[in-house]
Amino acid sequence: METKNTGSAQHIFPRDWRKRYPVVERGEGVYLWDKDGQRYMDGAGGAAVVTVGHGNRGVIQAISSQAEKVCFPYIGNFLSQAQIELADRVISFSPPGMSRVYFVSGGSEATEVAIKIARQYYLLQGKERKVNIISRWLSYHGATLGALSLSGHIQRRKDYLPYLTDSPHIPPPYCYRCPFELSYPACHIRCAEELERTIKEIGADHIAAFIAEPIIGNAAGAVVPPAEYYPIVRETCDKYDILLILDEVITGFGRTGKNFAIDHWGVYPDVLIFGKGVSSGYAPLGGVAIHEKIFDVFFQSPSSGFFSGYTYSGNPLACSAGLAVLNYIDTHHLVEECARKGDYLWEQASRLKDLPLVGDVRGKGLFMGIELVSDREQKTPFPREMMAAETVKATAMEKGLLLMSGSGTADGVAGDHLVIAPPFTITTEELDLLLNLLESSLKEWWERYGKSYSK
Ligand SMILES: Cc1ncc(COP(=O)(O)O)c(C=O)c1O
Repeated sequence: METKNTGSAQHIFPRDWRKRYPVVERGEGVYLWDKDGQRYMDGAGGAAVVTVGHGNRGVIQAISSQAEKVCFPYIGNFLSQAQIELADRVISFSPPGMSRVYFVSGGSEATEVAIKIARQYYLLQGKERKVNIISRWLSYHGATLGALSLSGHIQRRKDYLPYLTDSPHIPPPYCYRCPFELSYPACHIRCAEELERTIKEIGADHIAAFIAEPIIGNAAGAVVPPAEYYPIVRETCDKYDILLILDEVITGFGRTGKNFAIDHWGVYPDVLIFGKGVSSGYAPLGGVAIHEKIFDVFFQSPSSGFFSGYTYSGNPLACSAGLAVLNYIDTHHLVEECARKGDYLWEQASRLKDLPLVGDVRGKGLFMGIELVSDREQKTPFPREMMAAETVKATAMEKGLLLMSGSGTADGVAGDHLVIAPPFTITTEELDLLLNLLESSLKEWWERYGKSYSK
């Protein structure tokens, strides 16, 4: 799994200290180049971050002209024009009813804010016992301890368990390996019913919210629920006076071919978490949009007027990047482009299903997950020690293609998947190249490692 390292990097505490990282030099469109001149196609937009492509002149110009004016006013003293306009833009992308936006520096902080908003919303109504937030296994809401407590990714949680709060998790809507060993549609969407069952078990007056990624991100590899799932979830939340928090950090602002992934089901959230694609990686930015019914409670409460925050909340440099990105997505019709290019991608990618190690191909728009198995009939995962997802990813990187990898779908540990999530600006020719590189990486890995294991 070694890749070259062109810098000494002796003082860097890297994400993975077994690995040697190349040093990036520049980016343009869907490509990145390292210091040695090696070109990489950014097939995963970093980690489903890059939406408008690398080196976007309009975004760079917007950040630079904001920097010329002012970089830091402090949220406790000022709003900025970029922040005000970005909030308007976010709301214009959001489902009906969303009315206010709180900006932070990324997805994890946004999840923390969503937790606190849910808590405060009920506190202000005198419902102080409504503290639990129900989440799902095979989910990821961020690395900070509150967000990690809600996350249902066993490997990412395990070292920090002593610090995590004991919040209820329900099984995910994961049809390829149904947690209830049922099949759609005979299952009657048992996974959605599980929400109501859990609410009844704990008691609705102890529950503040249910949080979910509308299409599960890298914790499971672009898992799409059955059509009935979110309408049932919405109905259940309304029935028991529970907020529906949707984490669209990966899926927001067009990635799946709609403004937000939840728009595929015509369901509205109470709290919407976003990050990544909103600034396309040009600046650290995330945020939380809330439904007007929530802000009304904050606004009308005689006892409140203050919400805790972060030093960099609403930072104008980050907001100017976000504003330029969302304007670009809008004026270049990139949401519709994601749907159109997604159709092309799905048509072309159907051939991947013929490969012996591909168990499932799923997702929507320009967000695709590929689950790897050693036996397609039995859906047998590769043993985790083989690090199938990571080593296919490394093979692809050697060929100049960047992917995301993940594991844990089969039993929390084993079960490998890859994710592709290219910039929305990718062309169909570049999609062809992406798929060719992906296919040859999968084939090469299968010949080198997978085939002999499976025999
Ligand atoms: C769905 C989802 N929520 C939240 C986060 C956390 O975002 P960040 O890494 O920007 O803190 C991520 C990151 O991958 C994510 O995929």
